[in-house]
Amino acid sequence: MSGLIPQHFIDDLIARTDIVDVLSKRIDLKKAGKEFKAVCPFHNDKNPSLTISPLKGFYHCFSCGAHGTALGFIMEYENLSFVEAVESLASELGVEVPYENKSNPMKKNNDLFLLMDAIQKKFQNNLKNNPKAIEYLKKRGIDGKTAKKYKIGYAEKSWTNILDNFGSADSDIKSLLKLGLIIKKENNKGYYDRFRDRIIFPIRDSRGRFIGFGGRIFEGDQPKYLNSPETPIFHKGMELYGLYECQKSMRAIKKIIVVEGYMDVIGLSQNGVEYSVASMGTATTDNHFTRLFRLSDSICFCFDGDQAGYLAAWRALENSLSHLKDGRQIKFVFLPEGEDPDSYIRKNSTANFEKLLNNGKDLSDFLIQKTSEDIDLKSVDGRARLAERVKPFINKMPRGIFKELIIEKLSAIVGLSAKKLEQSITEDEITKKRKSSSNKALRRKNLNMNQSSPSVIKKSISLILNYPEAVEQIRKIEFVNYEKPGIRILIKLLKNITDEPNMNTAALIERWREDDEGKYLSKLAVNLFPKNEEFNATQELNSCLEQITKNYYNDRINSLIKKQADNQLTADEKAELKEIIHKNKIRR
Ligand code: GTP
Ligand code: MN
Repeated sequence: MSGLIPQHFIDDLIARTDIVDVLSKRIDLKKAGKEFKAVCPFHNDKNPSLTISPLKGFYHCFSCGAHGTALGFIMEYENLSFVEAVESLASELGVEVPYENKSNPMKKNNDLFLLMDAIQKKFQNNLKNNPKAIEYLKKRGIDGKTAKKYKIGYAEKSWTNILDNFGSADSDIKSLLKLGLIIKKENNKGYYDRFRDRIIFPIRDSRGRFIGFGGRIFEGDQPKYLNSPETPIFHKGMELYGLYECQKSMRAIKKIIVVEGYMDVIGLSQNGVEYSVASMGTATTDNHFTRLFRLSDSICFCFDGDQAGYLAAWRALENSLSHLKDGRQIKFVFLPEGEDPDSYIRKNSTANFEKLLNNGKDLSDFLIQKTSEDIDLKSVDGRARLAERVKPFINKMPRGIFKELIIEKLSAIVGLSAKKLEQSITEDEITKKRKSSSNKALRRKNLNMNQSSPSVIKKSISLILNYPEAVEQIRKIEFVNYEKPGIRILIKLLKNITDEPNMNTAALIERWREDDEGKYLSKLAVNLFPKNEEFNATQELNSCLEQITKNYYNDRINSLIKKQADNQLTADEKAELKEIIHKNKIRR
């Protein structure tokens, strides 16, 4: 439950959301009886293993187990936070999200963005008045136009420049701290500026807002770079330096170059190559790939010509595999030892740099090169080892021409027919799947067979989630004090439905999104019940609740009897024991 968006709004939003509508905007759905089917976007598959139930407002993949509500789908599929997904869903329905206490988190961060904007301007102004900084940029071949494009600035050689200019009120100090622009002194008496006497590279998000800074020293003292820490608006692993400028300067982006450093992006732009972004010293994440491929189908990695650059390229390859849909292309350019893109383009020329890009290594060649580094391909044994080693990588790729091409390439090297190789790869995949589905079957069996308390509690919750309408007028719940996992949720669910009988599965689940126990609810919403005529959800639920009541009394009797044996029963407990035994006789 989000404290910021009123619960009734979320309930209402879920109730008004048609999950089929939401999903069909994003993936292809086919009608199948009362439900819909689709190829699951969360694992590599050709088969339509995703089932969408409009009635429940819930989706579930029988192959990989992915499941959730429309809101959950948007979060997963588009990599959004809960609040962002609510915003997105609301805008699809044309309604505005009301925030309690007017503290719209987007708006709340507005203050931070405004402050970032002002501070960025200050840094940029500082640069104009600092001959040493201007001289440094000139020395590195950067002219005024490029400096302006990237809003390069300078942080004064002072402990309190930012503090003095922007930290007069307590609330300002708080914001500066949040943004990581000032640091608390160790003795707790006051603060000092994070960035001092450094060239400043402002980092912008894809909308152009300033979210962080990178600061480079001139010479000498380490560390070379100081970056903004993680803040409410800056998450290093999510951002790519230069993405905004790249989007702005080119309408249709044919390809994107991923480089390592700020200066690489800037140096390339200075020399007319305006389509590069930098990962700022972190690995290229899934999130990065999603963003990059949204802009262009062709990505080229051009890291520094050293061991670290080579390893970073390899890690990028590993992370890229699941993103290699048909039509997409990834290349790797390896620079001469000791060069980075910035130094290379300056020493050689733009034309030569572009030539180098065009001659980049295909992903498949790099994959085979790296995996065969310590293998003797002349021996049969070595070739077999190579095939084994490459298989898991190929397994991660989605089906398509790309995967087939790699298999062909590999087959030529190892001397197996492509067909045979593919067979053995598919076999690996099938065994993996079989293992996971037999585990699932086992778990399913456990859930249905075992009538001990935890599982019957789980089953009740699952029944309620799947068949909210099965909840009849619930007789007085006798097991309110039962201390078993799930009881609290079960009681709350029953109460919720009797209070608001029209809630569907999705609405129920969304109520518990942030509840420690409740976050497992969506797992229980996956339908495990037989679809035959004899199955009657109300009956099932009533008999489960009956069973829980029995278990509760049995446990209670046992514990009271144990206490009695130790002569520790209070008068109240004695009466209770007598009553339960009496009741239970009637029950049986
Ligand atoms: P120049 O040396 O000025 O050409 O820098 P560069 O942009 O070429 O950076 P480099 O290739 O040395 O490093 C790549 C990226 O890693 C930088 O842009 C920073 O984001 C990050 N980085 C490099 N050095 C440091 C450091 O000392 N500390 C931190 N936190 N990050 C660093
Ligand atoms: Mn460099």
